[in-house]
Amino acid sequence: MVKQSKQGEGVAVVFDSGIGGLNLLCECARRAPQMHYYYVSDNQNVPYGDRSAEEILRLTLNALDGIEKLRPSALVIACNTVTAQCIDSLRKIFPFPVVGIQPAVKQAAEKGGKCLVLATEATVSSAPFKKLISRFAPADTAAVGCSGLADYIERNIFALPAVLPQGLLPDFSPNSVVLGCTHYAFVKEQIQNRYKCAVYDGIFGTASRFSEIVGMTDHFLPRAGIFDHSPHNAFKITFLRGNCDKNARIVKYLFGIETFD
Ligand code: DGL
Repeated sequence: MVKQSKQGEGVAVVFDSGIGGLNLLCECARRAPQMHYYYVSDNQNVPYGDRSAEEILRLTLNALDGIEKLRPSALVIACNTVTAQCIDSLRKIFPFPVVGIQPAVKQAAEKGGKCLVLATEATVSSAPFKKLISRFAPADTAAVGCSGLADYIERNIFALPAVLPQGLLPDFSPNSVVLGCTHYAFVKEQIQNRYKCAVYDGIFGTASRFSEIVGMTDHFLPRAGIFDHSPHNAFKITFLRGNCDKNARIVKYLFGIETFD
């Protein structure tokens, strides 16, 4: 007999090509803390952002192979690149809700002025991204594919410099910046210092959508920033596939979150 679960209980799978989705994983865990999270990544094949649509779908399905057996209440695609390139296919394949992440251009539009969207090449060149920009972005928006940035963050996560190396970020004078790749949240401060303007990302919006789907209302939770340590939090997180040790260390040391499984 299937156990009747209370609100926010059950299983959720969170997927990213690498470490970027850990930002969203931690935000989902704060909002629905009773759930058991499985973090699936593909650190061997990251970055996905310079690959073709077919390759991204193939690698994603390979990494997610067998997750149906976990009977998740939701699959969170914590990767703008995979969302942009294959969310429709994933929704057709999996029999549970699939939540994607998109660049927060609507929020930047409220601010007005010149907007710079930083994302991977695969995101920037995708049809859903172009549609999002034409519908919601401020008129004066530049979208730049930052080849090399996600890979740099993935490799240097435990020793990120205060100023990123030349050439990783474009020269621009925007009034707002949108982070269109979950890896970039790890260098939000460096990006803020470089462009000296408001920086938006889609992490909170996506975590909010996730918590609605699993039946949690998040209005009572503190609006924790991703680097606000919550040392008393311990969440049930299992790292599946990819570089599990590295992912677990990031959650523990960068977010101050204890895990148990
Ligand atoms: N974290 C992923 C995203 O949000 C991309 C990194 C990659 O290129 O694999 O787009």
